Amino acid sequence: MPNNLKRVAIYPGSFDPLTNGHVDIIERGARIFDVIIVAILVNAEKSPLFSKEERVAIVKEVFKVRPNVEVDTFDGLLVDYAARREANVIVRGLRAVSDFEVEFQMALMNRRLDPNIETVFMMPAEQYSYISSRLIKEVFSLGGRVRGLVPDSVEQRLREKQAAVRP
Ligand code: PNS
Repeated sequence: MPNNLKRVAIYPGSFDPLTNGHVDIIERGARIFDVIIVAILVNAEKSPLFSKEERVAIVKEVFKVRPNVEVDTFDGLLVDYAARREANVIVRGLRAVSDFEVEFQMALMNRRLDPNIETVFMMPAEQYSYISSRLIKEVFSLGGRVRGLVPDSVEQRLREKQAAVRP
């Protein structure tokens, strides 16, 4: 299919780390769009737990059998990145009403910045509706179980990081 006829969506986020809620949204997006690009924000002001390279590697591992799921990194404005990638859809997950306000603001700001780009919201499966990357890191660091909430490779990497800090 020529590139300009493909329905290309961007799924942007920090993904620090990828959770099963993100995986669920990516799978839903991959069924609807010809290509879904998981776009990992590289923010020089934030110090993520997982490096850019680790976050890319995790998405590649989890979606190695999904040819229409791509992974990339970006900085700067999301709408500029989307335009560079010739994508006119931004996918965001909505877990609860509490997500709505900030997502609504971002969607409208992005639309004002570039009216050609539409934000599409998708709901993850209910069992993932309370998961966030921040909670996963907190629970794991305090000794809680995160199995089933993140891909196995993320759990493994969390363990390796913990072992490196507390051998
Ligand atoms: O996973 P997150 O942290 O909720 O993702 C937020 C993200 C990356 C989608 C948002 O911070 C973003 O788009 N940042 C890029 C800078 C930008 O375009 N800001 C204006 C958004 S209205």
